[in-house]
Amino acid sequence: MHRSVDEITGSKRLRRMRRDDWSRRLVRENDLTVSDLIWPIFLIEGQDAVEPIDAMPGVERLTVDRAIAAAQRARELGIPAIATFPNIPIEKRDRTGSHSLDADNLINHATRAIKAAVPDIGIITDAALDPFTDHGHDGVLEGGIIVNDESVEKIAKAAVGQAMAGADIIAPSDMMDGRVGAIRDALDDAGFQDVAIMSYATKFASAYYGPYREAIGTAGVLKGDKKTYYIDPANTDEAMRETEADLLEGADMVMVKPGLPYLDICRRVKDTFQVPTFAYQVSGEYAMIEAAAANGWLDGERVMMESLLAFKRAGCDGILTYFAPRAAEILQEKG
Ligand code: PBG
Repeated sequence: MHRSVDEITGSKRLRRMRRDDWSRRLVRENDLTVSDLIWPIFLIEGQDAVEPIDAMPGVERLTVDRAIAAAQRARELGIPAIATFPNIPIEKRDRTGSHSLDADNLINHATRAIKAAVPDIGIITDAALDPFTDHGHDGVLEGGIIVNDESVEKIAKAAVGQAMAGADIIAPSDMMDGRVGAIRDALDDAGFQDVAIMSYATKFASAYYGPYREAIGTAGVLKGDKKTYYIDPANTDEAMRETEADLLEGADMVMVKPGLPYLDICRRVKDTFQVPTFAYQVSGEYAMIEAAAANGWLDGERVMMESLLAFKRAGCDGILTYFAPRAAEILQEKG
């Protein structure tokens, strides 16, 4: 017996709601808005200068005055927050990352200047030591080992310095055990109860960070890899344990990093913990889309917007993305 298409589908004609633009909009489950975007920017010392980053076409390192202009642009576009990452001159880096504790280092100098010029934008700073160490690791290196507790002590102190400079959110990207609790205690002791923590709760030992290491100048100096402190890309239960630990230690928001290859983690974090969940669409993800677009192999703009929407669908509340200003412009045009 042969059944007609009509008998098989019955009333389940899912294409009905896809027919018109108005009906597609009406049944749309997820939307990307400018309020979902966090813009990571790279800093360099000096005045009125920008430096291109080979593996990240369209992204530049900015001197602090240029970073102020970027923050103003973000503010005008309605982007809620920026995240700063410094490229520290090599002569200021050492084994323990001591310059991270300098009240007037590049991160803190930028935070003060941006806060003064653009007070109503959120500033997120990273307390990991990698921009400041001469070996490129996120913590203190001793006898070939990244020593956990000594690193945590330094990271918590660096976080307090960042809060003193005016950072709104401390985002530790280092993956040392216990660093969220230590940062929370240190912030509270110093009177910064209102400074929040966005933990890089599930940061994987990923090859997608390559272009970032060029951007902050750790590519050439990094000794070995980060597998002894970042999560194995094969693991998802471990990612849940990390997230739970960070929440218990006081994280206000959690992050999954990288982004697109780890959407399963985003969904699982959101479903398990129901807390503010963010993804970092990292440098390598940006580079892949840009490279394909530059070759004419992909429609870069559409892939950018689709990739950002995918994070929303996976349960994320927001996305750190180098595309933030471009996506915001497109969203603004759409009105
Ligand atoms: C390290 C750090 C990394 C990124 C931000 N902070 C990874 C790394 O160098 O191992 C990656 C960001 C990106 O790739 O866009 N603390």
